[in-house]
Amino acid sequence: MAPVTVRAPAKVNLALAVGAPSSDGFHPLATVYQAVSVYDDVRAVAAEPGEFSVRVTGADSDDVPTDERNLAVRAARMLAQRHDVKGAGAALHIHKSVPVAGGMAGGSADAAAALVACDALWGVQAPRSGLLELAAELGSDVPFCLVGGTAVGSGRGEQVTPVLGRGSYSWVIAYAERGLPTPQVYAELDRIRAGRAVPLPVVPGQLMNALRNGNARALGDALCNDLQAAALELRPELARILDVGDAAGALASLVSGSGPTTLFLARDDEHASDVATALSSAGVCRLAQRVTGPVPGARVIR
Ligand code: C5P
Repeated sequence: MAPVTVRAPAKVNLALAVGAPSSDGFHPLATVYQAVSVYDDVRAVAAEPGEFSVRVTGADSDDVPTDERNLAVRAARMLAQRHDVKGAGAALHIHKSVPVAGGMAGGSADAAAALVACDALWGVQAPRSGLLELAAELGSDVPFCLVGGTAVGSGRGEQVTPVLGRGSYSWVIAYAERGLPTPQVYAELDRIRAGRAVPLPVVPGQLMNALRNGNARALGDALCNDLQAAALELRPELARILDVGDAAGALASLVSGSGPTTLFLARDDEHASDVATALSSAGVCRLAQRVTGPVPGARVIR
């Protein structure tokens, strides 16, 4: 069994409409995901039957649990169990570039990568639909990390439908000093909305048109995030980062997913460099990075 390395992308949300929580505490979503060019790599090596381990290196690696809570380990175990893989075991090595607790689906990317890596390592050849089902059980964003590209997410975000769009977009991502736990941001949104009627979440038609036409300016006008108000309430200093992006002429400046990562749409790569430089030199964030999207979902690279 030759070792397998899989690369999985981070996501940004171009739209994130959040409904009222249902009885299980989850919120119905209408979202548009885009996979962007910042990746975690997961390498899977065969181990003794029943032995599963993980080692984590790279950005924020100290913040990732290496026990049974690790989402990549859970993914590997789940694949082995559901497909009754005889003698399955794996030593996983996650190399992180996606920030932890940054609202960019870093843990979900690792789970998606582990599913694809162990599927190849053990020669399971699970059908795509089977992998997507396991992914949905592991977390709301995991199916999208498998699919990649640009896609509409519904349900909890786990029901993913690819969007046929044109072109590639130049983004800048600004990482904050500290992460923000996703459940806390949803709870803050519920608190802000308490006593108010919350409409069913829908993806704006204007945004879908912008994607179909590949029009960055129109896309910038249509980007939206219901979690932004909650993230700003919890981290007021994020407003300053958004202001710097606006002043640098970003087509849009917004919180990415549940934050605290912020997202800026640039006109082109050169403008993205200018926006990234403005953010870095203002000293408002830990790191400002240029990325492009869409990029493919989790795939074997070695
Ligand atoms: O599904 P996932 O494990 O990624 O979700 C992390 C947390 O985010 C959930 O435990 C829940 O608190 C919150 N969440 C939510 N509604 C969603 C997705 C996530 O409330 N649709």
